[in-house]
Amino acid sequence: MPLPYVLLSAAVSLDGYLDDTGPERLLLSSPADFDRVDDVRASVDAILVGAGTIRADNPRLLVNSAERRALRVGEGRAEFPLKVTVSGSGELDPGAAFWHTGGAKVLLTTDRGAARAHALGIAAEVVPLGAELDWWAALAHLYERYGVRRLMVEGGGTVHTQLLREGLADELQLVLAPLLVGDPDAPRLFGPGGYQRGRLRLVETRRIEDVVLMRYEPTAPGTGSRASAADRHWLALACELAALCPPSRTAFSVGAVVVGADGTELARGYSREGGDLVAHAEEAALAKIDATDPRLPAATVYSSLEPCAHRASRPAPCARLILDAGIRRVVTAWREPDTFVVAADGSGLLAAAGAAVVVLPEYEERARRPNLHLPG
Ligand SMILES: NC(=O)c1ccc[n+]([C@@H]2O[C@H](COP(=O)([O-])OP(=O)(O)OC[C@H]3O[C@@H](n4cnc5c(N)ncnc54)[C@H](OP(=O)(O)O)[C@@H]3O)[C@@H](O)[C@H]2O)c1
Repeated sequence: MPLPYVLLSAAVSLDGYLDDTGPERLLLSSPADFDRVDDVRASVDAILVGAGTIRADNPRLLVNSAERRALRVGEGRAEFPLKVTVSGSGELDPGAAFWHTGGAKVLLTTDRGAARAHALGIAAEVVPLGAELDWWAALAHLYERYGVRRLMVEGGGTVHTQLLREGLADELQLVLAPLLVGDPDAPRLFGPGGYQRGRLRLVETRRIEDVVLMRYEPTAPGTGSRASAADRHWLALACELAALCPPSRTAFSVGAVVVGADGTELARGYSREGGDLVAHAEEAALAKIDATDPRLPAATVYSSLEPCAHRASRPAPCARLILDAGIRRVVTAWREPDTFVVAADGSGLLAAAGAAVVVLPEYEERARRPNLHLPG
């Protein structure tokens, strides 16, 4: 199920707080950083905050720059991004600025919350999502019903914590402000819980006046048949690797990456790597890992094309090599067409042996791109 690209945005004090406990919102960013946030807002389809942030800060969440709004309209987009909030209780102030500024608004809530929001006269489209609010369903709803492809999440800590823990955050834009809060009752950015083990990937740092912006991406693969945001990043890398393959008219160009459960890259490879004219991508990557590496059983293989099930050039097809390595999870973009082997079904072979196979068709076009010269 395709989901929006989810960008978490927050500013924190040096001691990791989102706010203090005073009645006024604590200003952590600098003026130039507020302008950067305005620019990010202008770039997205929707902005989401939790009900706690509406209650604490009464934010308007607008694109403030008239030029940026005009640019959106010129591109055929709404003047303001859709504003979205989540609440289980529906206990919201109908007079809050959130409902009465900007463009369209949506409240994602529970059945109970929807009844309460209707009774309060909340001026938004109220969407009940069942007895509990499931983030996967909520994001899928934003994608399908409102066409949200890029979602900016502006807090607060409860919402950020859940999205990161569930593997739904594609990116974290964190601003570190040079001040200290020092109040244990103040809200923190991330609460306790089961986050990904291992390290996130630092993709950018930028000084903006006296604050520092850091951009991170999660790295830990999802589990089972659900695709996490990190799964999508790794599969995109596999598709990029396919472009490195020496050209061939008789074999696919494929890229592959093997990633440990904590998000550590174990190896990568691509078809015909190193001048071996029959080498497959998964085979090339696996050959770089010690077969006794204890991280293999919990690893995920990302392959732009599903691992092969039949092979004339080597004794074992890639699906078999993956299973023999002890790996039980594969994420791929493209099911193998009948170009060279009719009804190849590497995914079926893997699944029959108990492996989880996740196919993300939204990456198929990228996986096909280095193969467009092939027949069919
Ligand atoms: N520095 C920054 O960048 C920044 C940005 C934003 C906010 N903040 C600060 O963060 C604080 C607010 O954070 P917060 O953690 O208290 O609130 P929050 O994350 O904004 O919202 C939490 C509320 O959202 C609803 N919610 C969240 N997950 C849900 C789920 N799975 N199912 C149903 N409802 C769900 C619940 O609403 P109900 O209670 O209605 O059920 C919950 O109480 C404020 O102090 C604010 O100033 C700082």
